Amino acid sequence: MEFETVIIGAGAAGMMCAGHLDGRTLVVDHAKAPGEKIRISGGGRCNFTNMYCDPGAFLSQNPHFAKSALARYTQWDFIALVDAHGIPWHEKTLGQLFCDTSAKDIIAMLRGLMQARGVALSLHTRVEDLRADTGGYALTLSDGRRLRAGRVVIATGGKSIPKMGATGYAYDIARQFGLPLTDTRPALVPFTFPDRRFAEISGVSVPARVAAGGTAFEEALLFTHRGLSGPAVLQASSYWEEGAPVTLDILPADMLEALRAQRQTAGRRNMTTELARHLPARLVDHLAGLFDLSGNLADWSDARLTALADGLRQWELTPGGTEGYRTAEVTLGGVDTDALSSRTMAARDMPGLYFIGEAVDVTGWLGGYNFQWAWSSAMAAAADL
Ligand code: FDA
Repeated sequence: MEFETVIIGAGAAGMMCAGHLDGRTLVVDHAKAPGEKIRISGGGRCNFTNMYCDPGAFLSQNPHFAKSALARYTQWDFIALVDAHGIPWHEKTLGQLFCDTSAKDIIAMLRGLMQARGVALSLHTRVEDLRADTGGYALTLSDGRRLRAGRVVIATGGKSIPKMGATGYAYDIARQFGLPLTDTRPALVPFTFPDRRFAEISGVSVPARVAAGGTAFEEALLFTHRGLSGPAVLQASSYWEEGAPVTLDILPADMLEALRAQRQTAGRRNMTTELARHLPARLVDHLAGLFDLSGNLADWSDARLTALADGLRQWELTPGGTEGYRTAEVTLGGVDTDALSSRTMAARDMPGLYFIGEAVDVTGWLGGYNFQWAWSSAMAAAADL
């Protein structure tokens, strides 16, 4: 059987690409349904892009690589597509756009685009063998079919959440064809501490600035049974190297001034009671085990108050590790961008072989950036196919 294009992976990137192709196209996926990560994303509402999408929000060994695709198919293009399909959406925070109703609206839109183009979809199907053949590629599928395709697009994503069918297939194919890979590791992932030191305050959340590897994020921080989570932590995890410290700044903006003023007018108040006006009481109890918080406000000198403020502003911790691919939202690293054209996503030395989406060494921040990369890289390939 002949196809012009076979796309392996019916996720965000694979479906987007297929929905914009002319000619005979087949999409193959080993899962029982397409777009499973879209379905569960954004708490079921899919944070499908970000209004402030910019190349600076992406990590890659080559920070320039993503620029071309992101500029040629922007967040505004995807918003226009969503609008054209009548999908209601809203901005939640920090430019993050979510479906009003359900992530299933995005899946239905992509499936509709594929149907309109007559794209064939084979679910529950693996590619047993893929090899270069004269003028294209020969594929053997797990259902026994043997196919020929002029072009093959690898859209099988990264390794995060193996329970949902994530595999390292894209990396295996890159290796098979001699394409380089960058190191991969879980990203947008909670930190763990083997001593479970935050178990007693699990569920407590505070606004924070979390820094790792020289980059800091200001968003919510969540203490968990196993360690630290919340958007600020997930963001920082992408910049964290194993064994390195992370720095938390949980000092509320006007706390020091307020304590100084209270000291004048209500010096007999207990320090921990006063602190609990600024920070969650359970967190204050925990901090009392780390800092000497004893005494009344009147007992606290300026120097002591400043030392406490500094401690809360630069709380340095070294995580034991992360939750790993079990819960990571994305995989950092992947197919080395040196091997790909930034304009078309085609492998430079393997005519007709393309890599799109998370499989590539381009990783976005939390907040809709990773889907935008899936849409933009898919459209870059589609324009060339
Ligand atoms: P994706 O993972 O979507 O698709 C890959 C497809 O390939 C899957 O259908 C899979 O079954 C298939 N496949 C894998 N191996 C195969 C093989 N060997 N043979 C055949 N098929 C194979 N991003 C964002 O921007 N906003 C958000 O709200 C969220 N939320 C979110 C929540 C959770 C829980 C996770 C895990 C991730 C997110 N993300 C996110 C990240 C986002 O889901 C991710 O970046 C994109 O889905 C990547 O799109 P791809 O198409 O590259 O891979």
